[in-house]
Amino acid sequence: MKKIRASVPAKVILFGEHFVVYGKQALAAAINRRLVVEASSGERSGYHVKIANIPTFGMEMDLVTGEEKARPYKDYDAAANAIAYVRESIRYLEEKYGIGGEGVEIEITSEIPLSAGLGSSAATCVATIAALKEYFGVNGDLDGIREDANRVEHRVQGAASPIDTAISTYGGYVLVEEGEVKRLHLAELNLIVGCIGSIPLSMATKEFSEMGLKTKKIVEQVKERKEVFKGIYDAIFDVSDEITAQAVTAIEENDFVKLGALMNINHGLLDAIGVVPRRLSELVKLSQELGALGAKVTGAGGLDEMGGVGSVVVLPGESGERLKGAMEIAGALVMDVKTGGEGLMMF
Ligand code: MEV
Repeated sequence: MKKIRASVPAKVILFGEHFVVYGKQALAAAINRRLVVEASSGERSGYHVKIANIPTFGMEMDLVTGEEKARPYKDYDAAANAIAYVRESIRYLEEKYGIGGEGVEIEITSEIPLSAGLGSSAATCVATIAALKEYFGVNGDLDGIREDANRVEHRVQGAASPIDTAISTYGGYVLVEEGEVKRLHLAELNLIVGCIGSIPLSMATKEFSEMGLKTKKIVEQVKERKEVFKGIYDAIFDVSDEITAQAVTAIEENDFVKLGALMNINHGLLDAIGVVPRRLSELVKLSQELGALGAKVTGAGGLDEMGGVGSVVVLPGESGERLKGAMEIAGALVMDVKTGGEGLMMF
């Protein structure tokens, strides 16, 4: 039996999320949480997709000749959009490389919370594309996989900078500016990630089914507000650019006090553009109050009307253990993470 596995890391955006969509600089790092896609030959025709072990969410469904059947195995139903990235990756590969025509079982196991700003969508695209390219004998060089994955993200969410797919593909650190991806060699950082992953029971099923496309919605809202407050947003975006540039130097110089202060300022800008929901704001304030060197929302952020789901990243300084306990009490899934790990691995 043919069996291919592709493993990719999650990411944290350290500086410049959202602003990167408009050509500004952003710095992201791989973290030691991974997602694995296994493609193996199946008895049934078409693709059968199973998603397991995602910390905040789970479902299983068949994609057989257009007929879809969802079997949620945790708490939620109507979750079909969560699989949009797998479906679109398959469609894209069929169109571009003419692959397909046999039964393939795809199993995804993941340590990356969904819709939390930690790159689960990009990781899904990169690993699915890498596994299926290898499975069908299509040239799978890293740059090609990254570009394919970025196109799929575009198709699903309308706008997508290359930052998430670059980290899942290359690992390490990546600086993106004007859409150009530059790989940086920076020292490992020990960070805390706090993730608000639970969806309020009061949320209507239809709204919940849109959760998988949360990033799309938030990016669209930022765009709308940018059109209304053009001059103000342009100024905010320029400040963000400067913050990211200074942050790279701070990491190079091991100046963690400065790095933390820059994270706090970056968080303020994210709040100013409206992507910080109450629950994430609380986690950041809590971290700052308990002595973290810096704390900020990471990734797309969140929306109060979608339960404030998303993540914060914290540079803890001396305050680590106390801080983690307090974040847990505030309802977060808390993870110790190390930055800069391996990118795509096939095995
Ligand atoms: C999402 O992880 C980061 C955003 O900047 C969107 C993107 O870069 O495509 C919000």
